Amino acid sequence: MKFVKKITTTFLLLSASLTILADEPIKKATLGQTLHDGKCLACHTTDTYTREDHTMKSLEALSARVTQCMNPAKAEWNDKERKAVVSYISKNFYKF
Ligand code: HEC
Repeated sequence: MKFVKKITTTFLLLSASLTILADEPIKKATLGQTLHDGKCLACHTTDTYTREDHTMKSLEALSARVTQCMNPAKAEWNDKERKAVVSYISKNFYKF
C-alpha cells in the first residue's frame, strides 16, 4: 500500500509540474506588452491603434510616435525596451 501511495504522490507531483510548464507561455506577457500596459494606457487605449483613421502608416512612423509618446507617459526606456514596445504594438495591432 505504501508503494502505491508513493507512486500516486509522484504521479500527482509530476502532472502538477507539467501543468505549470504548459501554462507558462500563455500567462507570460512579453516585455513589450508589460512596459506598454504599465505606461501607455493613461491617455488612450489600444483602440487608438486599430481605429479606422489611425495615423501610423509605417514601422518608422510608429517608432517615432512611440519615442514622442514616451515623454508624456514618463516612460524612461532604453533602446531595447523601446524597441520591444514598438514590436509589441506593430505585431499585435498595425501588423507592419
Ligand atoms: C499624455 C497622453 C499620452 C500618453 C501617456 C501616451 N500617448 Fe500615445 N497618443 C496621445 C495622443 C493625444 C495621440 C493622438 C491621438 C489621436 O490622434 O487621436 C496619441 C497617439 C498614439 C499613437 C498613434 C495612433 C494612430 O493614430 O495610429 C501611438 C502608436 C501611440 N500614441 C503610442 C503611445 C505609446 C507607445 C505610449 C506609451 C509610451 C503612449 N502612446 C502614451 C497621447 C498619449
